[in-house]
Amino acid sequence: MRQYDLDEIIDRKGTFCSKWEFMPGDDPSALPLWVADMDFACADPIIEALHARIDRKIFGYTVYNNPAYKEAVTGWFRRRHGWEVKADDVFFSPGVVPAICYLIQALSQVGDGIVIQRPVYYPFTNSIVGNGRKVVNNPLRYENGRYTMDYADLDKKLADPGVKGMILCSPHNPVGRVWSLDELKKVVEIAKKYDKWIISDEIHFDLVRKGIEHTPLLKACPEYRDRIVVCTAPSKTFNLAGMQLSNIVIENPEYQKKWLHVIGDQNSVGFANPFGITAMIAAYNESEDWLDQVNAYIDGNIAMCREFVAEHLPRATMVDCEGTYLVWLDLRAYCADKEELEEMMLRRAKVALDEGYMFGEEGIGFERINVACPRSIVRQCLERMAQVLEGK
Ligand SMILES: Cc1ncc(COP(=O)(O)O)c(C=O)c1O
Repeated sequence: MRQYDLDEIIDRKGTFCSKWEFMPGDDPSALPLWVADMDFACADPIIEALHARIDRKIFGYTVYNNPAYKEAVTGWFRRRHGWEVKADDVFFSPGVVPAICYLIQALSQVGDGIVIQRPVYYPFTNSIVGNGRKVVNNPLRYENGRYTMDYADLDKKLADPGVKGMILCSPHNPVGRVWSLDELKKVVEIAKKYDKWIISDEIHFDLVRKGIEHTPLLKACPEYRDRIVVCTAPSKTFNLAGMQLSNIVIENPEYQKKWLHVIGDQNSVGFANPFGITAMIAAYNESEDWLDQVNAYIDGNIAMCREFVAEHLPRATMVDCEGTYLVWLDLRAYCADKEELEEMMLRRAKVALDEGYMFGEEGIGFERINVACPRSIVRQCLERMAQVLEGK
């Protein structure tokens, strides 16, 4: 097994890197732990496969719909998630957020309502509103540092005939929940009662903490397969976000037709980036050991955060992180004003984080910290925060 040095600091400046060069606050002295990509080098098989592909010298239109691509995806689902998916049910999209937009266009009409569970990944809101649909919020419950779903409210929201479906974030960004089988079944039970579809965004499905198991929604509830679409990608898992490639699992033939109409006829999306395809195949077929090491390293970063918070930020609550590499920190005991907290982080502590309010008003007073980076950087970030919040 190859050993990766995840403590290595890699200079990303000069690569048009969003995280390090285009950060909120535009202050080069700030430490960026915001946008969700990793500061770790990619797995060796990915780098080697890309070098070999570059040596072929021509980068023309490239077809994703081929057996090697499909086998890499379905093989990953089977090995890693015990999830059997037919090759014909896997559809390419240049990203999960674009896929969510296409699905909204395919499965609803202008003016329809779509349920989301805030505080949640803010592009859900943009995709719904930008396509002329309405956000219907089913806020998560937050009690004793843990988030759960409010099923009674979900029932009320999905009962509305103007609401067509919901976007589930599973695992949930930013609150870090990996929904249990029981929780997933309850959601499906309610959706089924009113015949509503569920788009399950599972982009973080491979990033789960030790001892925690993620279940793809189609695996959890195969009896509701006609109303479920699952969005997956190698991008978060293998740090390939810039490759713009994701895999959408659609089993209902009617939904497949609608999808093909929206992406093909309406938006002319068809060809994938040749580097994305090459990288994904090398990732899924040859890079599992890298992912295991990365997940273990992130476990260590999260444990370090927990110890640091207990010792140096005693009034903060760190929400349990079961999945993703995002720490969701409740700082309301220090500052409950969103502008003031943002100013404290960006201008005084000089850390560029995702501000909690961006995920909905339920997130005011929280900060989201991306810990998929060398431990020394996470440590520096926390020290800068403690200096401002506790004067340490
Ligand atoms: C829940 C969730 N969905 C989608 C995305 C982005 O997906 P893509 O870059 O494939 O559009 C992210 C990135 O942070 C995410 O956290």
